[in-house]
Amino acid sequence: MLGTSPKAAIRMNRTPRCDRTSAWSALREHHEGAGRRFDLREAFAADPGRFDALSIQAPEVFADLSKNLLDARTLAILLDLARECGVEARRDAMFAGEPINLTEGRAVLHTALRAPREASPNGAAVHAVLERMLAFAETVRDTRTSGIRDVVNIGIGGSDLGPQMAIPALDAWAHRELRFHFVSNVDGHDITSVLRRLDPRSTLFVIASKTFTTQETMANAAVARDWFRANGGGDTRRHFVATTTNVEAAAAFGIDTTFGFWDWVGGRYSLWSAIGLPIALAIGAGHFRDLLAGAHAMDRHFAEAPLERNLPVLLGLVDVWYRNFHGCSSRNIAPYHQGLRRLPAYLQQLEMESNGKRVDLDGEPVPFATSPVIWGEPGTNGQHAYFQMLHQGTDLIPVEFILVRKPGHAHADLHAKLLANGLAQAQALMLGKSAEQARGEHVPGAAAGIDAEVLARHRSFPGNRPSTTLVLEELDPHALGALIALYEHRVFTSGALWNINSFDQWGVELGKSLCNDLLPRLASGDTGGLDASTAGLLQRLRR
Ligand code: F6P
Repeated sequence: MLGTSPKAAIRMNRTPRCDRTSAWSALREHHEGAGRRFDLREAFAADPGRFDALSIQAPEVFADLSKNLLDARTLAILLDLARECGVEARRDAMFAGEPINLTEGRAVLHTALRAPREASPNGAAVHAVLERMLAFAETVRDTRTSGIRDVVNIGIGGSDLGPQMAIPALDAWAHRELRFHFVSNVDGHDITSVLRRLDPRSTLFVIASKTFTTQETMANAAVARDWFRANGGGDTRRHFVATTTNVEAAAAFGIDTTFGFWDWVGGRYSLWSAIGLPIALAIGAGHFRDLLAGAHAMDRHFAEAPLERNLPVLLGLVDVWYRNFHGCSSRNIAPYHQGLRRLPAYLQQLEMESNGKRVDLDGEPVPFATSPVIWGEPGTNGQHAYFQMLHQGTDLIPVEFILVRKPGHAHADLHAKLLANGLAQAQALMLGKSAEQARGEHVPGAAAGIDAEVLARHRSFPGNRPSTTLVLEELDPHALGALIALYEHRVFTSGALWNINSFDQWGVELGKSLCNDLLPRLASGDTGGLDASTAGLLQRLRR
């Protein structure tokens, strides 16, 4: 069973925070010297083996790191940093179920959810729920007998984003007669537009909430239950199920089909648990097991590969290099696969809720930057929106391209165009275009009197802008599982280097409690004790 001793705390605090290591000082020196002036074009010209040296195959994911602003020396010091910060010991403590989430006194064991029964610290409990959940999914998927056509997941944050991201990603594997809907926002427009299209007799509601207390989810679940009753839905118990750690609260709501999980599964790490029920409903038991197996393969890679060939570790180190030495405040995610359109939103919660922290494990403010802003859109759409800024704006923003070799459709010509676009963008970011090249171009649309020199400046690109390209053979359940686990462990790595707690989220609490204070004031008009701005706005909203 899980360790509950403060062993992990002691072990983790014995390893130094990144900025107190000699590798950190070496990185600073390296950046001041060669690092700041590093030029990708020169690096490729000088080293024909650069691509081979800086690309790596992990389970399901091939990664090309060669278009990043680093060389062998940078990587060597970054790896020293990982060793000095005890990344391996911290990783082992997580896998062993030590309570590394110190502020909540919890283990962090989402990896146990995808391990084979005998290899999982909580194998019996995990697999009992998994089997029950998958059996239930199969009965619903038998749509002739179940009569279900629409599945509505009501949940928010980690109880929403995982299934929202994975179901479109795995559309090629999805049940053709089931439609999936997601209600997350407490904004009534969300649930209203979903319910408007449904027949209660053929609808299954999944109320997904780790705590079963979250305001948005509870409010939307109550609206759904009222709508169901008012529209002749029949037996609530046949049409509402819950996925939660709080089985009692689900029962009090009137739900008796509940799939549980445990406090050692963080919300943003929970798609592998009962929270993944909508995914299992969409792709079926066998494919859901493939998803888990893909994640487990990446877990083994993270746990066993030497640091220098360990992809999540390398990506976490490169993230720290950009954030703390190049001062990059954001990272763009560009998945060249329409099925991955919700991946940037999913990764926002994963990385920013995990590593958006300002004190270390000892509660000391950290003197360096932590989580970058994560943002993005699928390619090629992003190219026609914000890529202008990536190429010619004033900020250095590392871009992460995700390319999938084999499409899940029959339009080979479209797929070739998609891949060519992804490759071209990474190339353009790196190569840029000099003013001299631009000067030589004929520009028919330019104003007649414009100075050729001015025009060339507008039309040139600085280049030397970094990117990482991840390549999947195919976006199938196994590969998606590996890809998401890769991101989880990469976030773990940067969090471990920064010596922060990547597994709590106290930053969401203050707004929740102030909302509880303001809600009755909106009804009563009481502005006593409020700041003038909030009081003024509250009065305006009540008019
Ligand atoms: O408000 C943040 C948060 O606690 C997330 O961490 C979590 O994923 C989400 O709310 C939903 O929580 P629950 O699953 O308990 O409803």
